[in-house]
This record gives sequence, structure tokens and C-alpha cells, in this order.
Amino acid sequence: MAWYKVAKESALKDGDIFKVNAGSKELILMNVGGKFYATSHLCTHEQYDLAEGFIDDGNLVCPNHFAIFKPADGSVVSPPEGSDSIAPLESYKVKVENGEVFIEVA
Ligand code: FES
Repeated sequence: MAWYKVAKESALKDGDIFKVNAGSKELILMNVGGKFYATSHLCTHEQYDLAEGFIDDGNLVCPNHFAIFKPADGSVVSPPEGSDSIAPLESYKVKVENGEVFIEVA
């Protein structure tokens, strides 16, 4: 496991979602109420790019069919309407040091 510097803390405002690269992984980094979270970037429903998504009521929403995920652990809050359950997103540890945001990946 290694920590990768992915962004400046000041670059993400509350509600922002950025696509970032950490090692060989392409992830999304989110600022939700001043806390930073990182998950895999493809929706587990139909692989839509969640960097195009948005934060609503503290959750990550896929704009394609409105699956809802919990930023803190990638778990599914609700699958798309009319769909069976979908897999959670991968979740990654995030830390902020000296104004820089780091993500830990294998
Ligand atoms: S692709 Fe994300 S909800 Fe369908």
C-alpha cells in the first residue's frame, strides 16, 4: 500500500467531485461537508463515470439512472429505480496533510 498525493485541499469546494489518478488507479475524490472521500469512479450499474455525478444530502448520486452511494464507504444507499441490487463502489482511505490530499491504494 502507498499514499499518493492527488489534489490540493483548497481545490475542492464542498460538493465537488474530481477524477484523480492514484498509482495505477483512476478514482474520484469528493468533498462532502468538508470531509474528503475516495471511491472507484465507475457506477456499478452500467459503468457510468461518477465524476459526472453529484452530491445530494451527503450522498453520491449517479446521474445516469440515479443510483445512490455512500461516499464514506462506497456502499449502496439505493439502486436505480426498477433495478435489482448493485455492487458497492471500492472505497479508499484519504488523509489531508499540510493542505494536500492523499489517497492510499495498493
Ligand atoms: S449507470 Fe449509474 S445508475 Fe445506471
